[in-house]
Amino acid sequence: MVSDIREIAAKFERIGTHSHIRGLGLDENLKAKDVAEGLVGQKKAREAAGVIVRLIKGGKMAGRGILIAGPPGTGKTAIAVAISKELGKDIPFVHVAASEFYSSEMKKTEALIQTMRKAIGVRIKETRTVLEGEIVGLDYNMVPNPYNPTQKIPESATLTLATKDDKRTFSVSGRLALQFMYQGIEVGDVIVIDKETGRIAKVGRSEKASKKYDLGNADIVEIPSGKVEKEKEFTYVVTLYDLDEANARRGSIFSLFSAESREIDNEVREAVDDQVKKWVEEGRAELVPGVLFIDETHLMDIELFAFMNRAMESEMAPIIILASNRGFSKIRGTDIVAPHGIPLDLLDRLLIITTEPYTKDEIKTIIEIRAAESGIMLSDDALEKLMDIGVQNSLRYAIQLLAPAHEYAKLRNSGKVSLEDVERASQIFVDVTQSSAYLKKWEEKMLAM
Ligand SMILES: Nc1ncnc2c1ncn2[C@@H]1O[C@H](COP(=O)(O)OP(=O)(O)OP(=O)(O)O)[C@@H](O)[C@H]1O
Ligand SMILES: [Mg+2]
Repeated sequence: MVSDIREIAAKFERIGTHSHIRGLGLDENLKAKDVAEGLVGQKKAREAAGVIVRLIKGGKMAGRGILIAGPPGTGKTAIAVAISKELGKDIPFVHVAASEFYSSEMKKTEALIQTMRKAIGVRIKETRTVLEGEIVGLDYNMVPNPYNPTQKIPESATLTLATKDDKRTFSVSGRLALQFMYQGIEVGDVIVIDKETGRIAKVGRSEKASKKYDLGNADIVEIPSGKVEKEKEFTYVVTLYDLDEANARRGSIFSLFSAESREIDNEVREAVDDQVKKWVEEGRAELVPGVLFIDETHLMDIELFAFMNRAMESEMAPIIILASNRGFSKIRGTDIVAPHGIPLDLLDRLLIITTEPYTKDEIKTIIEIRAAESGIMLSDDALEKLMDIGVQNSLRYAIQLLAPAHEYAKLRNSGKVSLEDVERASQIFVDVTQSSAYLKKWEEKMLAM
């Protein structure tokens, strides 16, 4: 099972409009600074989020839920993004919009359970026997390729590895020798070979070799010390979903050709759960409950809510963070009106964080930060105008006008956005209220459903 595991290389992130956010901007006492790490104001919510991050890191939040509630554009998604930054890359954080559960490819509850399992990590510790050192000798024994005699391939190779204290010579198979060639590994490289699987990893160029050949910007590493052959401990985090996938795939050869997104049998998940529990009992793995952030929660229907409520009771459940900008509204799929359109029995179990509308000055600072992040210079009156738009229309609309206004400035060959550029952009692009007014006005002329 283990060899199918892959490390989570980069976390899936939705940056774009939240790229200026680096963290929650709190001090050691979990007090929010006025402006820090890209966040402005909204102090109570940020401080609450800070406590939650501590609880999550301490493993005390699993299976619980949080709701971030507040009017549109008050930073709910921004705070969730900040939470993910604070958690670091070892704790899974999955960001979805509730609409993503509905697709033609799989049942919505299947999509939800798969997403929940992407938010649960398993930290696996493994001790493996490796050969590690700088290559000080590598001689290929070349023979004609049996399928194409004009070509030569290595039949075997002699490899000498050295550490600061040890030196050993091995005879390696043709298969491994070919790997060396393909990966461009040569004398002077520091490598690690997994003795059992033969997997080779190049660590970098040895400092000694780089001095000798002046190799420019190759990764320079120290020559390892100790024995060439040693036991090494490796740790990596995979998600339950990764394990499900790996196990489902081995089920049938036909799955190789099927589309990427597909349903996974419950038996596969149960087998994975049992395996993981066994690893945990044996001390070979640790469960790392991460966060599933579901934005635009009002798009979840009663069935999804019921399913999620039940899944949260399981011992392998992630922390769920929901965000809603709805007041009292109908629970989707029913005629029941509930706060935020969320069933009461679920709501009852959630910790709730609220966000409040921003002051004029806060809006101004957020626009300034966004402009700086996008490399846009604003004149004073352009900033004032955008602030007014942010107050009267919405913060998001003001932020969205930055890019077109910048284009107009460029057309004037100016590096700085002026008041006129902002006005020109705001005349061409309307905000939601204006566009609804437009729809009302021309209703009878538009195509009906
Ligand atoms: N306190 C803040 N500090 C800095 N930037 C912020 C802050 N609050 C919001 N923003 C930025 O303002 C924009 C709108 O905020 P965001 O999308 O987080 O609002 P929201 O509450 O999620 O709105 P909706 O209910 O419409 O989803 C985003 O670009 C966000 O990064
Ligand atoms: Mg949002």
